[in-house]
Amino acid sequence: MSVLRKIDIAGKVYELYKNKAIMSLKRIKNNWHPVKGEPLSELDKKVLYHQNKGYLVPKRKLIKTPEQIEGIRKSGLINTGVLDLIAENIHVGMSTAEIDKLVYDYTVAHGAIPAPLNYEGFPKSVCTSINDVVCHGIPSEDEILKEGDIVNVDVSTIFDGYFSDASRMFMIGEVKPELKKLVEVTKECLEIGVKKAKPWGFLGDIGSAIQSHAEKNGFSVVRDLCGHGVGLEFHEEPDVEHFGKKGKGMLLVPGMVFTIEPMINMGDYDVFVDEEDGWTVLTDDGLPSAQWEYTLAITETGVEILTY
Ligand code: MF3
Ligand code: CO
Repeated sequence: MSVLRKIDIAGKVYELYKNKAIMSLKRIKNNWHPVKGEPLSELDKKVLYHQNKGYLVPKRKLIKTPEQIEGIRKSGLINTGVLDLIAENIHVGMSTAEIDKLVYDYTVAHGAIPAPLNYEGFPKSVCTSINDVVCHGIPSEDEILKEGDIVNVDVSTIFDGYFSDASRMFMIGEVKPELKKLVEVTKECLEIGVKKAKPWGFLGDIGSAIQSHAEKNGFSVVRDLCGHGVGLEFHEEPDVEHFGKKGKGMLLVPGMVFTIEPMINMGDYDVFVDEEDGWTVLTDDGLPSAQWEYTLAITETGVEILTY
């Protein structure tokens, strides 16, 4: 579906779509509303200026207060501590259940809760995703890390009610050069995305930069899963796609907190969910996949990484 242009009818902005030779109009939602009985703030004015021009803007509830961001920052410190602990301890011959135990013990010792545990029925404290597992792998005693594996460890923490979320790739022993390249390019995709995360830019700036870097290197961007708002809940609006078009998608406003977490496949971008456990996401073609994730906040002047 492609947007041909934006049309203003009686002060309401519509998008004109061409979809299989059919033209249709879709009203762009006015997400931002002035607070009744209060004068417009500078932020209100800037967001409303964009909204009136037809851009998609966030709902006000997606803008975190400095106190909320401080809460997410503290949660993020513990979350980063967990990943540092995994980095120090991960080794060949270890089971993913042992990773899960390290995550659980460190998290509760710091007065926090692993966000995945019992989240929509997820049975463990962390996701561990090896080789052709794209994400949401469930740790198990029977799953042993072996030389040459690449594994994503995705850690999410709740502290004092605030959520943070990050993941890293680990290479177990000697890894084939093409796998190493996949892991490194995926990290670059995340860093390139973070560079595009700034106030008054657009989510599409992030997605398009990630997509072009991945595809330039002969890899593909997973379409079916995305980053997300985070902080007061595990998964909030907006969806943060890792592909797209510059200047499109939601406006980035100071106070927004979300993840960027590109999943990059060596082969095709198609994925499927394991029917037996209902969680594990795998590549259709069986080729490997990598992922890195940060939680970040849009600030007045740029971006702050809250956990990595
Ligand atoms: N941490 C994942 C993310 O980045 C979500 C995992 S949900 C779980 O969004 F239930 F599988 F843990
Ligand atoms: Co996430």
